[in-house]
Amino acid sequence: MNLKRLVVSVFVLSLVMVISPMLHPHAEASMQDYKKTTNIAHRGASGHAPENTIAAFDKAVDMNADYFEVDVQMTKDGQLVLIHDTTVDRTTDRTGSVSDFTLEEIRQLDAGSWFGEAFAGEKIPTLEETLDRYRGKIGVLIELKNPELYPGIEEKVAKALIERNMHRPNNGKMIVQSFNHDSMKMFHHILPEFPLGVLVNSGPITAEQLDNFSAYAEYVNPNKALMDRETVDRIHEYDMKTWPYTVRDQASADYLVGIGVDGISNDFPELFTSPE
Ligand code: G3P
Ligand code: CA
Repeated sequence: MNLKRLVVSVFVLSLVMVISPMLHPHAEASMQDYKKTTNIAHRGASGHAPENTIAAFDKAVDMNADYFEVDVQMTKDGQLVLIHDTTVDRTTDRTGSVSDFTLEEIRQLDAGSWFGEAFAGEKIPTLEETLDRYRGKIGVLIELKNPELYPGIEEKVAKALIERNMHRPNNGKMIVQSFNHDSMKMFHHILPEFPLGVLVNSGPITAEQLDNFSAYAEYVNPNKALMDRETVDRIHEYDMKTWPYTVRDQASADYLVGIGVDGISNDFPELFTSPE
């Protein structure tokens, strides 16, 4: 390394060391704090395996996450499948809208190779097979992704839970969430006791919103960038919990645990075993 590069590198490193604590003013988190915080593997352990696949969910179980999160959408023939984007383009070997495939067709796609050859042949799972496979092993945080595209999806998800006797409020390990708050109100109407979360991607989160959310939700799950200690305290004042998303580095995890969040959606569940 030449001298100029060395000087620039030292300067950048020093700057990061000075700025980091300013961005994370309460980045104090002990192992004890982590033990009180719920570890949610986002789209499964998606830093280690292709998101929303059985491989990623199995990995979340292996890594002792408390929950894994999934994104639910609906096929052309009304089946509930787990995939994040409204098209299959990014995470499979085909292109097109999820809603243009039947279940039989979408099950032919390779949802693993894009992530790594070791995962070639992973399939897009159904919600139902996932509920059956992981029952009693780990919690499932079920996100209704773009439910406005899929009229009736709330009833279908509720039915899948009811058929498995997973719809009771004290099931402990099943939660439904969405960015679409009308959809959550609809779900609350169908299953009034079932734990629900509202996802929030822009702030600040107002008292009026919290008042509104607390009428039907138990969790307020914002983008991590919206979180500070005051917001956590205000959510708690409304007797709700908060599981912000999506954490991919230790400093962010330490900050959020330090300000008292109740859980963290993350791509790397090992963040909970290696705090700074
Ligand atoms: O758990 C919250 C998170 O899943 C919301 O964001 O885009 O990853 O579905 P997204
Ligand atoms: Ca999601």
